[in-house]
Amino acid sequence: MSYAIVGFGKIGQALAHAFARNNINVTVASRRPPEALAPQARAVGPTVVAKSLRDALEADTIILAIPFGEHREVAKALPSWKGKTVIDAMNSFPLPPEELDGLPSSAFIAKSFTDAKVVKGFNHLGATTLASDPVVEGGHRVIFLSSDDEDAIAPVADLAKRLGFAPVTLGKLNEGGLLVHARCRVWGPLIFQDLFKKQQ
Ligand SMILES: NC(=O)c1ccc[n+]([C@@H]2O[C@H](COP(=O)([O-])OP(=O)(O)OC[C@H]3O[C@@H](n4cnc5c(N)ncnc54)[C@H](OP(=O)(O)O)[C@@H]3O)[C@@H](O)[C@H]2O)c1
Repeated sequence: MSYAIVGFGKIGQALAHAFARNNINVTVASRRPPEALAPQARAVGPTVVAKSLRDALEADTIILAIPFGEHREVAKALPSWKGKTVIDAMNSFPLPPEELDGLPSSAFIAKSFTDAKVVKGFNHLGATTLASDPVVEGGHRVIFLSSDDEDAIAPVADLAKRLGFAPVTLGKLNEGGLLVHARCRVWGPLIFQDLFKKQQ
């Protein structure tokens, strides 16, 4: 399994630290050329290598750590996403929920990553927490995973474990996944809104 992180800002670097801490190879990319990212990548650890976006997208598993509004730009960079797993670590704010066609944000982006397996995860922790060692007082910090593709979650859960997290599977995006759907910097109101609609 090969891994890439697209976006090397706060969340991209936080995740890169987790890969480095556990000696797992990962490529990192953004819109800037690899030479611009290389010093920071080296500073994170020897298993973190900066590449061009196109080269990074050769990985099997690609973590999106970019502003939500940029996802289509990344999707366009590959002619086909068949065989790829996309881990969506993004939150959709500040985009208003009305612009998500009534879908959970990861289901919304999945429309652009045609044929990819999309798993939502690593999106609920602040960057500083995500960057720190997830083994805390003998316990493991939890990561929530959800996907509409049943087969996709297990390998991502395995990665989360290798990174030191305790993965908790929430099921489909429009079921348990809604619990980690951020809206206006809070989590969960979508599910209540949904329940409310069903009761009417
Ligand atoms: N910050 C948090 O605590 C936090 C917590 C949970 C989830 N999130 C989510 O994580 C995502 C990233 O947040 P962040 O705080 O890490 O943002 P950030 O610090 O602004 O970093 C964004 C990164 O994305 C890159 N980028 C932007 N457009 C791109 C494109 N079209 N192609 C490739 N790379 C692109 C930027 O690099 P270039 O300018 O070089 O392209 C930059 O490295 C957001 O969706 C956010 O909602 C953030």
